[in-house]
Amino acid sequence: MTGHRYHRVRYSLSAGFAPMTEIPPRSICPVRGRDGARSTGFFRADSPSVAIDRRPVALHLTALITRRRLAAADATERRVSSAVRYIGNKNKLIPFIRRTLERLGIEGATACDPFAGTAAVARFLKKHGYAVTSSDIMSFSFAFQWAYVVVDAPPRFAGLAEEVEDDGQRLDAVLRHLNRLRPETGFVYEHFCPEGHAGFEHDRRYFTPDNAAKIDSVRRRLHEWRTGGALNDGEYFVLLTALIEAADRVANTTGVYAAYVKSWQPNAERPLELRPPRMVTGTGRECRAYRRDAIDVVAALGPFDLLYLDPPYNTRQYAGYYHIPELIAEGWFAERPILRGKTGLPEDEEKRSDWSRRRRCEAAFRRLVEAADCRHILMSYNSEGIIPEDWIESVLRDRGATDSYRRLEHSYKRYRSDRDSDVRRYRGDRVTERLYYVRTV
Ligand SMILES: C[S@@+](CC[C@H](N)C(=O)[O-])C[C@H]1O[C@@H](n2cnc3c(N)ncnc32)[C@H](O)[C@@H]1O
Repeated sequence: MTGHRYHRVRYSLSAGFAPMTEIPPRSICPVRGRDGARSTGFFRADSPSVAIDRRPVALHLTALITRRRLAAADATERRVSSAVRYIGNKNKLIPFIRRTLERLGIEGATACDPFAGTAAVARFLKKHGYAVTSSDIMSFSFAFQWAYVVVDAPPRFAGLAEEVEDDGQRLDAVLRHLNRLRPETGFVYEHFCPEGHAGFEHDRRYFTPDNAAKIDSVRRRLHEWRTGGALNDGEYFVLLTALIEAADRVANTTGVYAAYVKSWQPNAERPLELRPPRMVTGTGRECRAYRRDAIDVVAALGPFDLLYLDPPYNTRQYAGYYHIPELIAEGWFAERPILRGKTGLPEDEEKRSDWSRRRRCEAAFRRLVEAADCRHILMSYNSEGIIPEDWIESVLRDRGATDSYRRLEHSYKRYRSDRDSDVRRYRGDRVTERLYYVRTV
């Protein structure tokens, strides 16, 4: 080894090698870089691709390649599972959550995500090996939880054998069948497109007349199949999820349903098309979904490993921002909901959440944390959230083992719907998402 000069090099799997600083020969060891793609290692100066001590470098390269693969898998995940536009959706933060689980050595077999929303995190946790219990107060989230978390085998649709031709790809065939249904004017057409009579004075432009009528025909058919016993729970919620996601893709909104755009946007003019939800199947994990208050669900659970919390972080009530996906999820067949005002909000306000109320969120947080019989608590919260940071810290420290409290940060580009930018003042284009952690035993 003597006689050679050694250089510290910065290498990246894509960028190749580039000498940086000279270092003494005996200090050959790989050093972890700041991100997965680039790391720092030490190589002989005259032959940068040949390491003197191959073992640590080889190990390091293996780790790098693994990290690269995970990053690629994360990118695919983000592409395939960002099916609906949703405030607080953690799709883009899954890599941050995954890295945090690894870094903090959080492991276990059972997890609970009681603010599941789009089920992005619950789905990830299931894929990561957990048996997941998830919940949310919203009915459309319940459908997503079923499709992305509870269902563990591709749906067979045995009850539709006569109606839908079997070409081997059952889900695709059923979706094709639904996509070809003749549009019919129904509840969505009446209330949420400009040709509808109900609320016509508001000229509601959430969907084009064609798409509204298609949503109506698909929704009615799902209801008939369901009440006629042709679909089991999993099959029903997979199809309902496909419909809610398809409707969201053609909704003439800027992301939330608290307003519609006055002229038709390009996405709204595309025809409604149901696509297969990206389910996670074959894990053998038994997962459960609930449509209940987070505290009730957590308090009723026996001991479990990981509690992941992602409560609303501001005073906007989800029920008011996503009333149309909610109506599609719940249907209008048993009792026709009474809608009011410019946006067609249902009259009842029962889904108002304490977590979006300044005077109630702190107490709710303490109650939830104290009710959980779990080993790890990981909480996502936004730097602009209404629960003060020192409150979060003190509640978690009170509940956790000495010195186990951690706070990690990730900054990203702000989610902003056009409606928001009209009416809200922001403190910048970037937002910091925080993960708070405590071990409880
Ligand atoms: C920040 S979002 C969660 C986003 C989710 N992690 C995702 O990736 O899509 C917060 C969720 O909490 C739900 N929520 C609000 N109050 C709740 C309560 N009391 N119990 C259960 N869920 C609640 C909202 O409906 C919303 O879906």
